[in-house]
Amino acid sequence: MSYIWKDMSEADLAKTHEPKLHLLHFFDGQQRRLFTVDDEVAYPDGRMIVSRTDLNGIITHANQAFIDMSGYEREELIGAPQCILRHPDIPSEVFGDLWETIQSGKSWFGYVKNLRKDGRYYWVYASVNPNFRNGRVVAYTSIRRKPARSKINDTIAHIAALKCCGEA
Ligand SMILES: Cc1cc2nc3c(=O)[nH]c(=O)nc-3n(C[C@H](O)[C@H](O)[C@H](O)COP(=O)(O)O)c2cc1C
Repeated sequence: MSYIWKDMSEADLAKTHEPKLHLLHFFDGQQRRLFTVDDEVAYPDGRMIVSRTDLNGIITHANQAFIDMSGYEREELIGAPQCILRHPDIPSEVFGDLWETIQSGKSWFGYVKNLRKDGRYYWVYASVNPNFRNGRVVAYTSIRRKPARSKINDTIAHIAALKCCGEA
């Protein structure tokens, strides 16, 4: 059964900046009405955000750092698709590359801007790794670390170049 998206609630949003409304289209054809609040939450030093998903990207495990940084309760994350974190500023090509890489049994590394439940965002340096059992991929695990600011700036410039040239 596919996941039933709830629209983001305006009551949950951070009050720091004016929220912006988006309609985000996912790879599986579903769409979600969401709000972004242009306010970064700094990645805390020394923490690792860990999640595990099934082969369809449905979250099966979330550590405490994931819960704290995303702003969701554990019960809201388990059973939800990882794209609950998708921020509209990251072009879908990035995730196409991610899925192609992990489905071929390799690890993917990259800088990602993630959306919190309150509409604010946080940047991560993510690895996404296939988990093997008896030679077959049975799940995926992602580990996120604090990204260097210079790498975030490089990623923002790269995305802007993709968008300007009509590739994103
Ligand atoms: C283990 C794992 C971790 C992922 N972590 C993230 C993440 O932190 N943020 C994100 O936007 N997408 C993440 N993704 C990718 C999402 O599954 C999804 O592809 C992405 O949010 C874009 O949505 P779409 O593919 O439906 O367009 C992850 C996927 C896997 C398998």
